[in-house]
Amino acid sequence: MLFRNRKVVFLAMISLVFYFIGFMPYSRPKAASLFPLYAKYGVVSSADRIASEVGVAVLKKGGNAVDASVAVALALAVTYPTAGNLGGGGFMVIRMADGKTTAIDYREIAPAKATHDMYLDKEGNVINNISSTGYLAVGVPGTVAGLALALEKYGTMKWQDLVEPAYKLAKEGFPVSYWLAHTLSTNTDLIERYPRSTGGPRELLSKFPESKRIFLKDGNYYQAGELLKQPELALTLARLQKEGPQEFYQGTTAQLIVEDMKKNGGILTLEDLKNYKPVVREPLKGSYRGYEILTMPPPSSGGIALIEMLNILEQYDLKGLGFNSSERNHLVIEAMRRAFADRAEFLGDTDFVKVPVKGLISKNYAIEVSKSIDLGKATVSKQVKHGQPNTYESDSTTHFSIVDSMGNAVANTYTLNGSYGSGATVTGAGFLLNNEMDDFAAKVGVPNDYDLIQGEANAITAGKRPLSSMTPTIILKNGKLFLVIGSPGGPTIINTVLQVVLNVIDHGMNIQQAIDAPRFHHQWLPDALVFEPYGFSTDLINLLKSKGHIFSNKVGYMGNAQGVMIDLETNLRLGGSDSRGSDASAAGY
Ligand code: DON
Repeated sequence: MLFRNRKVVFLAMISLVFYFIGFMPYSRPKAASLFPLYAKYGVVSSADRIASEVGVAVLKKGGNAVDASVAVALALAVTYPTAGNLGGGGFMVIRMADGKTTAIDYREIAPAKATHDMYLDKEGNVINNISSTGYLAVGVPGTVAGLALALEKYGTMKWQDLVEPAYKLAKEGFPVSYWLAHTLSTNTDLIERYPRSTGGPRELLSKFPESKRIFLKDGNYYQAGELLKQPELALTLARLQKEGPQEFYQGTTAQLIVEDMKKNGGILTLEDLKNYKPVVREPLKGSYRGYEILTMPPPSSGGIALIEMLNILEQYDLKGLGFNSSERNHLVIEAMRRAFADRAEFLGDTDFVKVPVKGLISKNYAIEVSKSIDLGKATVSKQVKHGQPNTYESDSTTHFSIVDSMGNAVANTYTLNGSYGSGATVTGAGFLLNNEMDDFAAKVGVPNDYDLIQGEANAITAGKRPLSSMTPTIILKNGKLFLVIGSPGGPTIINTVLQVVLNVIDHGMNIQQAIDAPRFHHQWLPDALVFEPYGFSTDLINLLKSKGHIFSNKVGYMGNAQGVMIDLETNLRLGGSDSRGSDASAAGY
């Protein structure tokens, strides 16, 4: 039918001609396609279409990837309140075109008054929800300081100019997407995410009057297409614009945060805000089949676990076994099981506890760990103990990936932790506060909101950063920028990044295919394999069951990953944006 219509054929041919000679912007309307977005100069892949466009506008003005990251992160704080934030924290891995690399740690920290047992009752049991809902759940926010530090070190534009798009979006409003309307009114996603035993629909925003007024329209709810204006947030952004990023930590905004804390039983003080410092760290380095991996070191567990799993899997011919074959998936699951057992035992904030980083990411350690993998049989998780890396010692979240025309690259993952964080909005300042304190082990051996069992290394201490799973990652091929990737999804983040990397390197997929391909998740405990809807055939399930794998009775989608890949022959940038993701989109020029 289509080809009978001559006009359509003619237009398609003209488009193709322009496409290949490069006169047209390389764009496509929607991310949910196996065809990535192709761009000649720069790409921004983020969880929100408007924010991606804000980033591309900065790139077009001559800003670099770091400038664009600041504008995108601030825009997401307005248009993607689920996870975009001023009141949270995160990690940014940067690689500049000249080869310089850095990792900016702007993770929240535990307030000075936080204590080891602050979430336990007199009997020593964890009190339900207080580590994840309301004012006691809040870690000292790092986002504003982190973005400012990245800009100061590697940016080229003025802070004021990069705040402007977010300010405008907050003041003038933006049309609410169908997805945002749905999540605001139900506090659930349109698609079922990776299920957790303590998660799922729960009353959150409606419990806090300021959040209810701003985000739920006092119970009348925003409809798709309606404008969401955020005047208090616009005022906060205007103050940040005028007085600079330190305003958040020392100015009116800081005072508003602390007043709210005092009124609602929080422990975060003005001193905590004044003392907050983002940290510049060395990216963690690993390799996989000749590709160089640059990723996030502690206090994220993501980079270590990713490299450990890649080191284990490098010993097997995954390509030969084939994508989604039972043998290949068996090996990937066994690698996940072992890396998450090590995560639980060893990982925490390296400023407070000693973590055997070099051992955990060493190739020899992976060889040792792999010896316990039985090719024909699943290992029972309870029998998997963490390894002995010391012997080898020699070294609701959103992600965006940006590559500019010069080849500078940013992988940024930041978060409020759960969707809409603690649920509490700072009165008069218009932004939500994180619930990152739940990423600590409230009690060793008791699962947190993501069902993660964690060790003493991740117990609460004042000033300490809770262990994260965020895995912003940059990959090089022959020393050249090749892939920028990351995802939300709590512990599933690490396994999402792992599978995208395997899909590209072992299975030859482009970035959009690699992101869209179905995934699975295992985190050692609970000893249960979760796979995405329609991801496994009945044959595959049966084959894995016959090897002894235990399947969770839940299914759910994993994180909405955002990536950029470089075609090293043409130098084109390929944007991949997850079809699992809300109103996610890659944009480029
Ligand atoms: O840092 C972490 O690992 C968690 N706070 C991330 C939470 C998350 O990804 C929620 N998103 N779906």
